[in-house]
Amino acid sequence: MIVGSFPNSRPRRHRQNSWSRGMVRESNLSVEDLIWPIFVQEGDNTSTEIASMPDVERVTIDLAVEKAATARELGIPAIALFPKTPAELKSDDGYEGVNPENLICRTVQAIKEQVSGIGIICDVALDPYTSHGQDGIIKDGYVDNDLTLEALVNQAFIQVEAGCDIIAPSDMMDGRVAAIRNMLEERKKTNVQIMSYAAKYASAFYGPFRDAVGSSTNLQGGKETYQMDPGNSNEAIREVIMDIDEGADSVIIKPGMPYLDIIDRVNRELQIPTFVYQVSGEYAMIKAAAMNGWLDHDKAMMESLLAFKRAGASGIWTYFAPVVAKKLKNG
Ligand code: PBG
Repeated sequence: MIVGSFPNSRPRRHRQNSWSRGMVRESNLSVEDLIWPIFVQEGDNTSTEIASMPDVERVTIDLAVEKAATARELGIPAIALFPKTPAELKSDDGYEGVNPENLICRTVQAIKEQVSGIGIICDVALDPYTSHGQDGIIKDGYVDNDLTLEALVNQAFIQVEAGCDIIAPSDMMDGRVAAIRNMLEERKKTNVQIMSYAAKYASAFYGPFRDAVGSSTNLQGGKETYQMDPGNSNEAIREVIMDIDEGADSVIIKPGMPYLDIIDRVNRELQIPTFVYQVSGEYAMIKAAAMNGWLDHDKAMMESLLAFKRAGASGIWTYFAPVVAKKLKNG
């Protein structure tokens, strides 16, 4: 850093023209930064609106294949799949989550058969499958860590068998990355990536997502006994180190905008691929304000994503992905 007095230093020189602002811009957003989360449901050729997430629809497998093809055409490198499990298949132990014929596995298989050249990410956690909406198995009123691990390993296994490229454990149980990595090694699936939600906070910003997967009405109590406390930063570093140590290839910080400082710290201190999840509540906030005419939709969207890049994110999970990809393509 040069310090001193420069009487003729005028930062505005660079800001005068668009070409010159672009020339000195330190961070840029590209289509390769985007991961598109997609909600799937049972049925045929049907899409369902999600009230708290305007312009996001939950789709049946055939339409999910179309979305994957669109993503591929736009140059989006990967999609992530989340299921809405029919209520009658939910149970206390989330057994549907380990059923190799479940909605997610069938979706992965259908996409793999029909669309090539795009990565498929599957979430590992039991909340779309449990009748109580928690991410794990409850014993004596508490989400039991080690009992849950076994189910998560089985869940990851069936997803990989179905063709999933990247396993993304979002459950926040201790030791789950090691358990899943060991299983992958034993089964010679050595090239399956693990992108772990290492620093996942117990956040109010997941509300609309829980509507989308149909877990909000079931959810009793919060997830504070396993997701991180929003007041913690050092603990995030420890969580990330542990997950990398256990065999994760990259990590996710979640939510995004309220936790930019965490992205920055992980990026500076650990230098490993760090993804950020712009969660459903962040999406809903921008949408709601824009629909009221209080914010410029596209400008707020682009600025929120560029900020993640500036903070050091390698890539961004965002529901805006296809809209942004089109915008980047068409200028
Ligand atoms: C499941 C999971 C959640 C999200 C991603 N995976 C919800 C939760 O933990 O309650 C949230 C994503 C979003 O809000 O967009 N464990």
